[in-house]
Amino acid sequence: MSGNILLVDDDPNVIEILSESLRSRGYDIESAADGEQALAAYDSFAPDLVVLDVVLPKKDGFQVCDEIRARDIHRDVPVIMISANSIQDSMLRGLHAGAQDYIKKPFSLKEIHAKIENHLAQAHRKKNLCEQNLMLEDQVQRGQADYMRINRELKKKVLDMRSLFGLSQDLNRLRDPEELIHVFCLTVVGQLGVSSVGLFYAFNEADDYLSYIGGSGVSETVLQSVRLSREIGLSRFLLGKQDIIKLSDEGCPDDAKREADYMIRFGFDYGYPLVVKSSLLGMVFIGAKVNCQDYASDEIDLFRSICTSAATGLENSRLYMELQSTYLSTIKVLVSTIEAKDACTRGHTDRVAEYAKMIAEAMRLSKRDIEIVSFGAALHDIGKLGVYENILNKPGELTEQEWEIVRSHPEVGANIIKNMKFLEAACDLVRHHHERLDGKGYPDHLKGNEISLGARIVAVADSFDAMTSDRPYRRAYSLEESIVQLKKQSEKFDQNVVSYIEELVAVGKIKR
Ligand SMILES: [Fe+2]
Ligand SMILES: [Fe+2]
Repeated sequence: MSGNILLVDDDPNVIEILSESLRSRGYDIESAADGEQALAAYDSFAPDLVVLDVVLPKKDGFQVCDEIRARDIHRDVPVIMISANSIQDSMLRGLHAGAQDYIKKPFSLKEIHAKIENHLAQAHRKKNLCEQNLMLEDQVQRGQADYMRINRELKKKVLDMRSLFGLSQDLNRLRDPEELIHVFCLTVVGQLGVSSVGLFYAFNEADDYLSYIGGSGVSETVLQSVRLSREIGLSRFLLGKQDIIKLSDEGCPDDAKREADYMIRFGFDYGYPLVVKSSLLGMVFIGAKVNCQDYASDEIDLFRSICTSAATGLENSRLYMELQSTYLSTIKVLVSTIEAKDACTRGHTDRVAEYAKMIAEAMRLSKRDIEIVSFGAALHDIGKLGVYENILNKPGELTEQEWEIVRSHPEVGANIIKNMKFLEAACDLVRHHHERLDGKGYPDHLKGNEISLGARIVAVADSFDAMTSDRPYRRAYSLEESIVQLKKQSEKFDQNVVSYIEELVAVGKIKR
């Protein structure tokens, strides 16, 4: 066995006998003859076990034991107390002071050896357990740090995924390219912390060059004059790569390199192609990160995903705009057909469409609603296609039967357009533009808010134009008189809508 043992006894014979026998068993021994010496030796010798007499000069064994425990709360060095006193009493006091065991004088060496070996073995096991425990704690702490790092990375990934999902949704929802570009730039700046981003695009499929359509942190006025070829140079190189490139990379062919160097002068470091169905529609350029750090690989992945969503969104928006212009031409053809029949109301539909659109804009309706109001107003009298020309152009009074036919035009109009998917939303405005707030309108006798806001707007715009136009039976009212007439007829017209048209007249946006 080995270990440091501190022997404390004021009897030199006891010390001598114990020292000799313990040294012969391989222990290192230090001794003390009173309480104070015992504590000093404890501090300098750092024993693995203390054999401590109870009766000592200066400080007794209980006090020494107390102080050992107080100064060494973590080590828990075993203390075996020796006393000639009544064993029961001393044992209790000793245990109370923190001793592990007790031996009554006179003791046999065999007994004390056995106890020392036993306590040292226990202390050794305890020490091993403590060390293992510390190692485990350390592993747990390191594991926890790993766990927290992985957790942070996961949280960031989840946030990236969320923002990407939100962006995809936005880009699918948005039809207005300006809004779409704005959302794209905000996302790139917000998610990647880029210092600058610029988007070059060809909205017209026939264009053979890409122009600047939006960005952030760039000099817009200069970039607006930049044209990048769509077929050669950087475009062709990026289309071939289909991935992000560092503009300063030497691997570019000469024509691409010239354009890359040109873009570097605007503060861009990287370029990325916007490709849909193997065709290059645009390019995105980004500068360095605001914090000057390199882009991490997951940030580049995120950038690729954002650009892919943007490419799809922009292509949808372009197709949507093409479709819009087809709709508008269709509407124009339909409107010219009505006006060809009704000489008296030439220009009426165009003006009603314009007034209704102005009111809808002044009321700050959504872009989509303004579009619906414009379509609805442009088509409001389309049902007159089903009214005989001789009735529409009859110079005299109409008979009740003829009136019946004229009054059918909203319903006929709604039936004409109801099967055209792109005009579906305008159908309600066509059908209800002759409804009145008091329910005395036609064809459905709707009242108040039962009539959609769009239909109420078209009704006001329609009557306003009728009032401000000459008719065979009367001269046109002035703009101001017409407003007075609309205000007088609160049983017919939505006065909130009237107040908007009054304002448009007052500020001169609607003129003769
Ligand atoms: Fe009408
Ligand atoms: Fe009309």
